[in-house]
Amino acid sequence: MEFRTERLVLRPAREQDLDAMHEVLSDPRAMAYWSSPPHEEVAQTRDWLASMIAIQPSEGEDFIVELDGTLIGKAGLWRFPEIGFILRSEHWGRGYAKEALSLVLDRAFGVHGLARVEADVDPRNHPSLALLKRLGFRETGRKDHTWLVGGQWFDSVYLELDATAWNERSRT
Ligand SMILES: CC(C)(COP(=O)(O)OP(=O)(O)OC[C@H]1O[C@@H](n2cnc3c(N)ncnc32)[C@H](O)[C@@H]1OP(=O)(O)O)[C@@H](O)C(=O)NCCC(=O)NCCS
Repeated sequence: MEFRTERLVLRPAREQDLDAMHEVLSDPRAMAYWSSPPHEEVAQTRDWLASMIAIQPSEGEDFIVELDGTLIGKAGLWRFPEIGFILRSEHWGRGYAKEALSLVLDRAFGVHGLARVEADVDPRNHPSLALLKRLGFRETGRKDHTWLVGGQWFDSVYLELDATAWNERSRT
């Protein structure tokens, strides 16, 4: 199973993705607002990758994102209806995340029949908030001290996109 967009390939994770995925998850810029500090050890990425590989089709659908045969990140629904995405910072600013997530959202609503997709974002994470708003997500709430990362508390902005809004956007 593999899906193509204009410039990218989205496919399931495999064990051989370890080194390339570690490059992503040890990138301090990409990990600045993640739910854990940048991975220092490959073993941390091995555990993370194992749980991505273990996602059951009834639980979620998460993809490795490839550009010209090279892994540049991941995008998907790591647990229905929660969206999650990360690209190596050298690949930001070219619309790759929007392109990958458009496929993820088409499948979320069109194939999996979800009523809504949700996101939980650090309020300081402007690139992520901007991306989600470009895709049509709307803020539904905020909460303080939701994540304890590296001994420090961080906050959440909650966003949501519903199937009707996505289908209307796709038609225009
Ligand atoms: C969130 C993240 C994926 C966003 O990446 P991004 O590259 O900014 O997002 P997009 O793919 O939508 O690209 C948009 C940018 O590409 C530009 N662009 C260039 N070519 C484009 C094209 N063909 N189509 C669309 N946009 C294009 C846009 O103008 C925009 O630039 P700007 O940010 O200067 O306005 C990235 O910042 C990231 O990996 N962050 C770390 C992980 C993270 O925080 N994840 C979210 C946890 S909730």
